[in-house]
Amino acid sequence: MQMTDSIRRNAILLALFSVITAGGIAATYISTRDMIIANKRAVEEATLLELVPRDTHNNSMLDDAFTVEDLAFLGLDSPGKAYRAKRDGQAVAVILPVVAPDGYSGKIRLMVGVWADGTLAGVRAIEHHETPGLGDKVELKKSRWVLGFNGKSLDNPSPDLWKVKKDKGVFDQFTGATITPRAVTAATFRTLQYVDTHRDTLFVADQPVATEEPAP
Ligand SMILES: Cc1cc2nc3c(=O)[nH]c(=O)nc-3n(C[C@H](O)[C@H](O)[C@H](O)COP(=O)(O)O)c2cc1C
Repeated sequence: MQMTDSIRRNAILLALFSVITAGGIAATYISTRDMIIANKRAVEEATLLELVPRDTHNNSMLDDAFTVEDLAFLGLDSPGKAYRAKRDGQAVAVILPVVAPDGYSGKIRLMVGVWADGTLAGVRAIEHHETPGLGDKVELKKSRWVLGFNGKSLDNPSPDLWKVKKDKGVFDQFTGATITPRAVTAATFRTLQYVDTHRDTLFVADQPVATEEPAP
């Protein structure tokens, strides 16, 4: 009898403990969820603002995201999220997701910002598997190499010079590592070609909102 009581008491205590623990976890999740979402958004926005600084536009690029479906040209394996910077409703820049498929260790994921005049706002490697000390100089944290694309365009340098120096182009390679910069340079050039071909849809201006029915 005494043993049954003890088992019952322990079972109740255990159940209580489980309920309190689960409640605690749920409360922590709910209270931090919004903070985690806000932090993620801030990190994403900071990356976009590195390419297209805040003083160049007055929309929230995060809220002006759109999907690019032309996978092959941008090297994407699935539709990617792109962003538009606008000043007073007029698109001033786009930031596109791009993949250089031919890095030394496979795909190098990039974000490429292009101004409406066709010049590059910037290029950032956001994911890659290149070798530390060699190909990882594609990261801005490791070297300033990627900044060499800023301000470049389809005709600056001329298309035949959109290569690394080892291939008779104008862009530096890394010491002992040509494959990574070659892949990123080619992907960046293809992005400029893509933007040039699709500029009417990429830099679409906001249509004025109709406030009344047009006259018949
Ligand atoms: C272990 C190892 C890792 C390497 N990692 C890279 C890399 O991440 N990026 C790169 O461009 N080259 C890397 N290289 C060097 C390339 O194999 C190649 O020699 C170099 O990029 C020069 O290429 P090129 O002959 O086309 O000029 C690596 C070589 C070795 C042995």
